[in-house]
Amino acid sequence: MSTKLIAPSILAADFANLQRDIDMVNQSEADWFHIDIMDGVFVPNISFGMPVLQAINKHAKKTIDVHLMIVDPDRYIKTFADLGSHVLTVHYEACTHLHRTLQAIKAEGMKAGVALNPHTNVNLLEDTINDIDLVCLMSVNPGFGGQSFIENTYSKVKQLKDLIKRKGVSTQIEIDGGVTNKNVKQLVEAGADILVAGSYVFKSTNQLKTIKDLKALANS
Ligand code: DX5
Ligand code: ZN
Repeated sequence: MSTKLIAPSILAADFANLQRDIDMVNQSEADWFHIDIMDGVFVPNISFGMPVLQAINKHAKKTIDVHLMIVDPDRYIKTFADLGSHVLTVHYEACTHLHRTLQAIKAEGMKAGVALNPHTNVNLLEDTINDIDLVCLMSVNPGFGGQSFIENTYSKVKQLKDLIKRKGVSTQIEIDGGVTNKNVKQLVEAGADILVAGSYVFKSTNQLKTIKDLKALANS
């Protein structure tokens, strides 16, 4: 079984001490930086944009995993490649021509991810899964950190894992929203590969230990 990855979500960091929090992730056992870009249209919230990502990228020493919660993401694929994104995830619900979008992301040298809202059925990826490097299953409704985990996610992970096996592809499964030490083990057992954790990491008193423990739990 391959190593399960931990991706702290920078949305929950202290933006007045961003470099400190980025350095913490660099020094930790975390694997990826998860970066949430929200436009106030696709989701009811606005997070941060290009200048902030540029600043993050200057200090981040690990994989940059960008989660676009924006309408018409095709407009910004090249921009996010230029900003140093390694993985670029778009929402299924925001793409009219998903197959074309995935090719465009890969053409810019990034891994192509597709995020599904809690109401979106995984079987809708039947015809594109061969072209997807990563599926991000939203385990909360996107737009805000600190929400409670939606229990139905476990069965979605299993369904998606079955689809991946059936198609013989190596697509990774990422879980985003409400991830804590209470659900990591069960998520991994269902088939999850990457666990995004925002509030659980950044609101804890010992962030390095929280990450270390999550990673150990995910790989136990
Ligand atoms: C929600 C974002 C998540 C969020 C997760 O729309 O996509 O990445 O930062 O935060 P927590 O772990 O606090 O639910
Ligand atoms: Zn996210």
